[in-house]
Formats: sequence, C-alpha cells, structure tokens
Amino acid sequence: MSLSLFWSTVFGYPVSMSKLVPTEKIWRNGVFIPWDQAVIHVLSHVVSYGSSVFEGVRCYHTPAGPALFRAADHVRRLIDSAKIYRMEVPYLAVDLCEALAELVRVNGMDSCYLRPVVLRGYGGMGVNPAENPVDVYLACWNWGAYLGREALAAGVDVCVSSWTRIAPNTLPTLAKSSANYMNSQLIKMEAVANGYDEGIALDASGCVSEGSGENIFLVRDGRLLTPPLGASALEGVTRATVIALARGLDMPEVEMQIPRELLYIADEVFLTGTAAEITPVRSIDRIRIGSGRRGPVAERLQQEFFAVVNGARPDRHGWLTPVSIAERVKAAS
Ligand SMILES: Cc1ncc(COP(=O)(O)O)c(C=O)c1O
Repeated sequence: MSLSLFWSTVFGYPVSMSKLVPTEKIWRNGVFIPWDQAVIHVLSHVVSYGSSVFEGVRCYHTPAGPALFRAADHVRRLIDSAKIYRMEVPYLAVDLCEALAELVRVNGMDSCYLRPVVLRGYGGMGVNPAENPVDVYLACWNWGAYLGREALAAGVDVCVSSWTRIAPNTLPTLAKSSANYMNSQLIKMEAVANGYDEGIALDASGCVSEGSGENIFLVRDGRLLTPPLGASALEGVTRATVIALARGLDMPEVEMQIPRELLYIADEVFLTGTAAEITPVRSIDRIRIGSGRRGPVAERLQQEFFAVVNGARPDRHGWLTPVSIAERVKAAS
C-alpha cells in the first residue's frame, strides 16, 4: 500500500504532496554544503523538544533579476524569535540577508521560497539546552501557490477549527517557532480531512486569531479589519505589507477583536502570508462569503502587491533586495 493511500484510508486525510525538488546547495553555519548533506542527528535537541525558529521568505522574478521580498523584516523576526527562546544567533542580520541573496545566486534561482532555520543541535540530552549548539541553516527551493494555483483568483473554502490557537503565555506566538506548528498541523489536518482548504483558529477568548499558516483580514462596510497581535497571531510580514498598501489606497484599516460570527457576515475575507500571498476566502463553514468569489478589495490589494513584488511598480517602500545576476557568475566560479 502506498503511503498516501495509507493516510487516506486510515485517517480519511486526503494527501496532496507539495513535492520538494532539491536545489544544489544549502547554507549551514556560514558554509554552502550539498543539499543531501544538510542532515541532523536524531538526538539533536530540536527533534525531541521542538527547539527551532524559522522563516519563510520569497524571492520574486523581476525585470531586473531575482529580488528578495522584505528580507530584512524576515531576518529581524528570525532573530527576535531566537531571542524570545534565549537562542544566540552568531550572525549579524545584515550578514544573514546577504547570505540569503548569495543562496539564491549559488543555486541559480530566478524565483524561489527560502527557509532560514535556527535550531538547537546535537550535544547534551534533556530539556535544558545549555549543552546544545545553535545551528543556522538557509535553504531554498521552488514553491508555487501554497493554497493551490486557482486559489489566488477563485478563493478557498475554509472552516473555523475546533482547535483553539495557542493561548497567551503558553507558547509565544510572536516567535515563529516550529513548536507552534504542532497546533497549526492540528488545524490544517482537521480542515483538510473535512474537505476544506484551510482552517481558521479562534484565540483562547473565542475571537478570531489566524489561519494555520496565514493572517486573516475581513472587509466590512469598506473597512479593512484584522485581529490584533494579542489575539495569538503571528506578526506577519505580509500582514504589515497589506496594511501599508491599504493605507496607500486610503483604505481605512482597523485592528480589532473579531467575534467568530463577523466572519460569516463580512463582505470579503482573505488570508495573507509569504506562502499564501493574498488568498481570497469564498466560504467559511460552507457559508458563502460576500459574492462567493474574490472581492474587489482583495483583487485591488493583490494587484498592488504583485505589481510591487514583480517589479512592475517602483519599490517606494524599499521592500525588494535585488539579487544581482552579475554576482551569480562570481559565486558560481
Ligand atoms: C501561523 C502563521 N500566521 C501568519 C503567517 C503569515 O506571516 P508572513 O506574512 O510573515 O509569512 C504565517 C506564515 O508564516 C504563519 O505560519
């Protein structure tokens, strides 16, 4: 029996594998190593205790060559996540940004997704990580639309999860730690098992928090609404991008506690994330949202977003870090 058939028959969980196609090199602690050699020992601290923090960054194709989107903001969040967990990252932010650009060059990518990971490695055993080194990896690969190719235009069908998002003062949700994604996995697997594309979690007070891997926005009477960070939401880079773009369009935006039922009566709902970009939601718990298709606000914000990331519009916010192709020749030789 194939593994995917096993999953689908035993757990009723339809598997759509987002297949990982290797690139050539991964950056480990300052050195580029072959993809297959980027392995860790099974007794590394991170395996038993979930002790890693990570990022997801996109590199977009632009007429001037590949460009990293908001690399400095992602690296800042990575270092902040590590700080929350008392992990010393032995690199400066500026050097990590440069290493990300170098990674794209070395792998000859025109556009890609990048995954920086800071983890507690092999050394001592036990919950206290005092004896374990902090290792830093940077990897990249090609990753298309996270919620499906059609989703950006057609929208997705989501549910409100029966799983609550991580409560305040349990696991810190401002840290993008791998441990938080055990909660995300519960939300995502339940949603997919029940035939939805994604799950929306409520926070410990019963108000809307975020998707398993995205922030959430609602449009109601011309205002853009999103939960505050205190609702156990990650401080998304795409969330900040959408807020900035909305301000540029004179669209009033409000951070507020969002009761669950406001989801159902919103004019539009959409999800934001580096992987998901700006993905409209067309139904929640089988209740049609707005017209049941991508709404005008989501479409306008998508237009703005893709015009900037694809280099069709001047980068007036300084969000793009060009990955010079001339440098690529140097890196490869
Ligand atoms: C739980 C969660 N919330 C929100 C986001 C969106 O964050 P960003 O826009 O920085 O990718 C992500 C994606 O990383 C996520 O995993």
